[in-house]
Amino acid sequence: MSKTKIFAHRGASGYAPENTLEAFALAIKQGADGIELDVQLTRDRIPVVIHDETIDRVTSKTGYVKDYTLKELKELTVLESKFPAYTTSKIPTLEEVLDAVKASGILVNIELKTGIYWYPDIEQIVADLVRKSGMEEKVIYSSFNHYSIQQIKKIVPEAETAYLYSDVILDVTDYAKDTNVDGLHPAIYHVKIADFLDEYLKSGLNVRVWTVNEEKDMDWLIGAGVTAIITNYPDVAVQIKKKAGK
Ligand code: G3P
Ligand code: MG
Repeated sequence: MSKTKIFAHRGASGYAPENTLEAFALAIKQGADGIELDVQLTRDRIPVVIHDETIDRVTSKTGYVKDYTLKELKELTVLESKFPAYTTSKIPTLEEVLDAVKASGILVNIELKTGIYWYPDIEQIVADLVRKSGMEEKVIYSSFNHYSIQQIKKIVPEAETAYLYSDVILDVTDYAKDTNVDGLHPAIYHVKIADFLDEYLKSGLNVRVWTVNEEKDMDWLIGAGVTAIITNYPDVAVQIKKKAGK
């Protein structure tokens, strides 16, 4: 059996509104080993699970997450035209998601969305919440903002961490090791443009590739033995992994 773990990107977001409790529940049902989610902070500094810095794309209102209180956000419904069957989804808090998935034993990749707004103290707030939930052993922190990851390491030295990136970084394996980070989360298009994957796999770092939605890419990466693939379609990846069981 391949060792590659299947992570549901924003939950099973190929089938249900992204980053909602419904999408995370579906990921568990479909047999994912992990979920990936995006965290921003509200005006009252509560970590909420939503991809964009604004609420424009997933609700009927507009504006920045950082300008709304949690109470105001909870009055809104997450609506995606792709999924008309879902009419009651809410923007969840990180705490609600951790509470909802804890019993399943699933891994949680928390992506700190600090690339556009670097919410003051988000790393401390999120780390405190993870400790309170008792999920420290299940959480992997990642961010495109690598200072955020270093901040997490300062707060929780034993936390599992990874650098997220989309384009090519020079000597990224040495960089990750020298800065004491456990893994690399490269974009699928990045590992396709040249033979980077070999170097990553040889480095011994955890390699989780996103967002892997094509079956042939799932097959390739599972065969190559990456640590994880992060996909909108965990059910498809689970099936491909089973077939690759050899
Ligand atoms: O964490 C992997 C992936 O989610 C990074 O990109 O924009 O989907 O958050 P994005
Ligand atoms: Mg993400």
